[in-house]
Amino acid sequence: MAHQQTAKKEIVGGTEETTSGVQRLVALERARRLLYPVVAVNNARTKYLFDNRHGTGQSTLDGIIRSTGILLAGKNIVACGYGWVGKGVATRAKGMGARVIVTEVDPIKAIEAKMDGFEVMPMLDAAALGDIFITCTGQTCIIRKEHFLKMKDGVILANAGHFDVEIDTKSLYSISQGKPARINANTERFDVVNGKKKKKLLSKGRVVNLVAAEGHPPEVMALSFANQLLSILYIARNYDRMDVKVHSVPEQIDQDVGSYALDSMGIKIDQMTVEQERYQHSS
Ligand SMILES: NC(=O)c1ccc[n+]([C@@H]2O[C@H](COP(=O)([O-])OP(=O)(O)OC[C@H]3O[C@@H](n4cnc5c(N)ncnc54)[C@H](O)[C@@H]3O)[C@@H](O)[C@H]2O)c1
Repeated sequence: MAHQQTAKKEIVGGTEETTSGVQRLVALERARRLLYPVVAVNNARTKYLFDNRHGTGQSTLDGIIRSTGILLAGKNIVACGYGWVGKGVATRAKGMGARVIVTEVDPIKAIEAKMDGFEVMPMLDAAALGDIFITCTGQTCIIRKEHFLKMKDGVILANAGHFDVEIDTKSLYSISQGKPARINANTERFDVVNGKKKKKLLSKGRVVNLVAAEGHPPEVMALSFANQLLSILYIARNYDRMDVKVHSVPEQIDQDVGSYALDSMGIKIDQMTVEQERYQHSS
């Protein structure tokens, strides 16, 4: 409690970078336990459309390839979750010649995946088909015992989402013989008792793009960090007028970050004419 009071006095606001972090802060707000205003940087379009999708999409496959040297073409890749991270992973895997299967719990995301050209099915069915499994949900125990037991020999398990809870490593240990064998710095082989089928777990179930690769390319992080910086400046100027809740990144900041990024790429775009502006706002 004393710690909370000190935090309340000394911290005037915060920013949050990622999906899971924003979810926790919204939960704190709902429980009336948030102590200061927070800007949800993750929810800016110039963050999630590029960082979560393109950055994580690319660096996740990079981490898997670095750890295993596997050819993605012709493999069955299961993307668990079709949010921004899942979309990035699935699209890139498809582009590299893989057959991509998506699992979801949200019917709308599931239709989106289907109409984007992916197969959609429950995890238990996908478990039997996949060669590579990539969790992208921010949830816990997405791949668990019943799934491990249905998988083929030699499958690769990687997480691109949240902590090392998306793949239920505890149950993987519980159904495996002896200690996992270390194949290389980021790959362990588990010998599952049932049929002695091998599973390769990457990065101990931690985010594979950060552990086994270099994370996102700088162009992508520049967009996220520009949002961070401008949001921090916004808080510094406005905190005494901000409600204690999770705020969106102001639209002007999002637009400015987009414009700065285009400038840096030397790309020019059109502007609405006065007539178009008027037409858009006419009743
Ligand atoms: N590795 C990285 O560098 C990196 C970068 C950005 C975000 N993230 C993390 O990745 C996770 C996903 O982020 P996002 O922006 O895509 O979030 P998102 O909310 O857009 O997508 C998550 C998706 O997972 C789905 N889902 C939830 N439970 C599921 C289940 N049991 N089975 C299948 N699908 C399920 C949801 O319906 C949703 O569509 C978050 O934890 C986020 O913090 C990681």
